[in-house]
Amino acid sequence: MIVEAFIPKSYTKHRSKGSVSWSSPSNIALVKYWGKKEHQIPANPSMSFTLDYCKTTTILEFEAKENTTAFSFDVFLDGAQKDDFKPKIETFFKRIELYVPFLKNYHFVIKTKNSFPHSSGIASSASGMSALALCLMSLEEQLLDATPQSENDAAQSYFYRKASFLARLGSGSACRSLEGDIIVWGDHKDITNSTDLFGVKYPFEVHENFKNYQDTILLVDKGEKQVSSTLGHDLMHNHTYASQRFRQAHDNISKLVEVFKKGDLEAFIAIVESEALTLHGMMMTSMPYFILMKPNTLAIINKIWQFREDTGLHISFTLDAGANVHVLYPKNETEKILDFIKAELVAYCQNGHYICDEIGFGAKQLPI
Ligand code: PMV
Repeated sequence: MIVEAFIPKSYTKHRSKGSVSWSSPSNIALVKYWGKKEHQIPANPSMSFTLDYCKTTTILEFEAKENTTAFSFDVFLDGAQKDDFKPKIETFFKRIELYVPFLKNYHFVIKTKNSFPHSSGIASSASGMSALALCLMSLEEQLLDATPQSENDAAQSYFYRKASFLARLGSGSACRSLEGDIIVWGDHKDITNSTDLFGVKYPFEVHENFKNYQDTILLVDKGEKQVSSTLGHDLMHNHTYASQRFRQAHDNISKLVEVFKKGDLEAFIAIVESEALTLHGMMMTSMPYFILMKPNTLAIINKIWQFREDTGLHISFTLDAGANVHVLYPKNETEKILDFIKAELVAYCQNGHYICDEIGFGAKQLPI
């Protein structure tokens, strides 16, 4: 699939050397993306909260080179060379070369760091790929005779749409990390301008209850996942329950539109927890089947349910493709819920490790 709108006509300026930098956050899906078609097209639409604290900061240094037949780059994480990151970036570059045809004209040094520990079990692909996509867009901006994104709305929306489009080709959920605070990715009948190609800002009214929502991430298992999300997505092909699941995601997004408008916390909790368990249900009913939750994941879920019943507070959970638990709650309930987390849940975390995060508003360009 070729998307003409994102292929630049020609580059009119030359830059021999320079650098750009962006920080981009992680995001947590409320309605999950699980299953994809060719070219990173999602099998169903998804919706997420952009996070604030968990982010990747990337500096992209570029220098023009003579030989333009191959990609050339080095990657550093926290100052240390990471050759094991190279295959993923090479694949990313191959997928996006048509849209950013300057890639082979430069040698790149990609210097990256995460605000969260690399071995925390928190996927850095969403924040990492979106930060890199934004850096490439900033370089492209320097090569074009076009209005810079900072100068008008049309230029800005093209910049972000294309950056999200590129990020999606690196890692699907990365396309939801560039802006905030609620993002929809995937064509959905009720969401204006939604598309499979990039993430869009949620366009409707959001009740005060959902402003500054909190996400405390409980790090239950910091190890490498036994099954990658690439393989997990693949197992949705020919999955017995796939078509029903994809329909459910569409329905849940429609329901969330009403929920966000009314501020209905109970309905929000029911949809979001069901989405999390459905995601893991899909994993458990794939062939071959697999389980990413750990005993402590289930212990935490049961504790959350009991606490919610005892107190009437609006604590809930969601999961991504791993054992860690994202504890979600409205900001005005923070004090009591954080006390509960510290007293009752932290014991289930590996080395007592957890991260307090909240809804954020997207990526930021950094001065060099
Ligand atoms: O972006 P990927 O290919 O790593 O897939 C992410 C899938 C989930 O995190 C499980 C759900 C989602 O929508 O983020």
